[in-house]
Amino acid sequence: MTVRIAVFASGSGSNLQALAEAVRDGRIPASIDLVVCDKPSAYVLERARAFGIDTYLFHPKEYSSREAYEEQILGELSKRGIDWIVMAGYMRLLTRVLVEPYYGRMINIHPALLPAFPGIHAVKQALDYGVRVTGATVHFVDGGTDTGPILAQQTVEVLPGDTEETLSARIQAAEHELLPRVVRWISEGRVKLDGRRVTIENE
Ligand code: GAR
Repeated sequence: MTVRIAVFASGSGSNLQALAEAVRDGRIPASIDLVVCDKPSAYVLERARAFGIDTYLFHPKEYSSREAYEEQILGELSKRGIDWIVMAGYMRLLTRVLVEPYYGRMINIHPALLPAFPGIHAVKQALDYGVRVTGATVHFVDGGTDTGPILAQQTVEVLPGDTEETLSARIQAAEHELLPRVVRWISEGRVKLDGRRVTIENE
């Protein structure tokens, strides 16, 4: 059975683009059935439409709590039979309303080598710290901030003279390889989660 995926995003959506191209080209045997977004001006909405992917835009301020809008989102996911959630630049913390039903079926991409530099401004945090190597991490989402079990990581060297912009651009290029690879593993049913350990069959 084809895995049905929802992508959550708040910004440009370059990771959605990389995933949608991989699905279109037959590199990922899954379907992206929904893009969930919290920002009306986010470019990800245009990218989704260009691929004919349904979008669900919500306005957090119209709800009394995070739980309230997540209940609504959960309804949208159930309606479409969504199996897996991919967080790709979704800039909101999650509550148990989404984490509990999707634990083990929800991943996030983060622009650092976790557990270093969780949370926001991860690229700036790494530059300010002075690390020589950083990168990107794909991990399962649990109740914490970027704390869930890790599926895959890709290193990126910090170069002399790097700015947040130049380093971010190279990390994003790495993300556009890493995330489709992980989503392919998921779609092929090859990911096993055992406590904090993740195994990829036939890797
Ligand atoms: C990505 O680089 C992703 O790692 C980062 O946001 C960017 C979204 O780019 N996520 C976080 O910082 C989460 N804490 P995109 O909208 O072009 O895919």
